Amino acid sequence: MGTLIKNGKVVNATGTVAADVLIEGSTIKEVRAGINEAGHTVVDAAGMYVIPGGIDVHTHLDMPFGGTMSADDYKTGTQAAAAGGTTSVLDFAIQSRGTTMKETLKTWQAKAKDKACVDYGLHMAITDLNPAKGPSDDASLDEMDEMVREGITSFKLFTAYPDSLMVDDRLMFKVMQRAAKLNSLVMVHAENGSAIDVVVEQTLAEGKTAPHYHALSRSTKAEAEATHRAAALGDMAGATVYIVHVSNEDSLREVRRAQELGWRTLAETCTQYLVLCIEEQMPGKSWDEAKYVFTPPLREKKNQQPLWKGLQDHSLAVLSTDHCPFRMSDQKILGKDRFTKIPNGGPGIENRMQVLFHHGVNAGKLTLERFVDVTATAPAKIFGMYPKKGVIAVGSDADIVLWDPNAEFTILAATQTMATDYSMFEGWKVRGVPVKVYSRGDLVAENVKYVGTVGRGKFLKRKTLPEDVMKGHTLEGVAVTA
Ligand code: URP
Ligand code: ZN
Ligand code: ZN
Repeated sequence: MGTLIKNGKVVNATGTVAADVLIEGSTIKEVRAGINEAGHTVVDAAGMYVIPGGIDVHTHLDMPFGGTMSADDYKTGTQAAAAGGTTSVLDFAIQSRGTTMKETLKTWQAKAKDKACVDYGLHMAITDLNPAKGPSDDASLDEMDEMVREGITSFKLFTAYPDSLMVDDRLMFKVMQRAAKLNSLVMVHAENGSAIDVVVEQTLAEGKTAPHYHALSRSTKAEAEATHRAAALGDMAGATVYIVHVSNEDSLREVRRAQELGWRTLAETCTQYLVLCIEEQMPGKSWDEAKYVFTPPLREKKNQQPLWKGLQDHSLAVLSTDHCPFRMSDQKILGKDRFTKIPNGGPGIENRMQVLFHHGVNAGKLTLERFVDVTATAPAKIFGMYPKKGVIAVGSDADIVLWDPNAEFTILAATQTMATDYSMFEGWKVRGVPVKVYSRGDLVAENVKYVGTVGRGKFLKRKTLPEDVMKGHTLEGVAVTA
């Protein structure tokens, strides 16, 4: 006795077939045409795509940042994820300087406990190798081994935010060396934080304080320089490096160059960089532009097409959100008098699948299969969750979305689940709706509203890097599969 999804088209990254899907308990029991209905609850998916639940590998829930906390906690954030068709999130546990990784992990597990509504995993963001002022870095590096044993198989480093999160090259290199030994991933927020800080100081000294100057003071070259540095140090250390939130063509060029050289460099971009731009959202006219103050900032429109190309040619492997929401009314307002005080981040966890489907698949920029790949399959493979997650296959978790490609939807802050008082895509009309969303066999969302219970999400203990992680997720992958 299970749930039988009938008459739909099953879309995996590898292809699309007309098939029924039988869910029994929390997993997929059968995928084939003509499964007998007897004894099952039948769900008619005629006219719909049956796709793997989305995986968002870059979120910041309940995160202290910019003098406040990100507005979505694990409850609202994961409910918003489910509403939009995302059934797993990987969030960042961020070490504050002076604390250990173990303490950090405890803090983040407490945030998620009894709140997470879909499955969640954690990356460990390292900011301090010697929090106890002990005799060497090695005790801290040994904590990385412990994290991997706990299923935290990816580490994050920031080369930006000098006052809080930025690390130097020495720390970066040591972490990369240890990660290489542990066969785990090093994620890098790549921007040259020191150079940017100089420009920011000069910008403020000229009396330029509006939100628009946030974008103007963080150049694409500062991002490209740090992207190259992270990729090169990764190669020196023998590590696999994943560049987060690639926002522009200059940085993407460095990713491509690294891949062409055979360096183990992977990368993601985020929804906002594909469809929003400085000319349209941040022309420098109003305070309202604080909605789009995130880092890296919005770029010139000319960068959008190269990023789409990156998703097409696999030099960009993943589409994430960098969901880091702040309300305009009482959080972004902290920076009304100077852009440096605006909490950096934007809300997007709920909109990723719909915006990418509409502007990617409907616009002919991405195939259906590539849409599934960048939103679910590649994240599952790169981050050690495949084939439990990221695929519609026998034995996989029943994380399934019934996607109606013809239904229309208008994105509005007033009806969204995310806890912000605005949407980055306010009033946008999109075609493509996650009509039913299942997480481990439970129906958790219907018609873009969460309908599941609270706290049902489980911690994802992830595996280390698969041997073939570069194949299919880089330019090399395209050459191999072409
Ligand atoms: O503006 C952003 N992206 N805030 C969150 C922290 C980060 O850099 O990812
Ligand atoms: Zn970042
Ligand atoms: Zn981020």
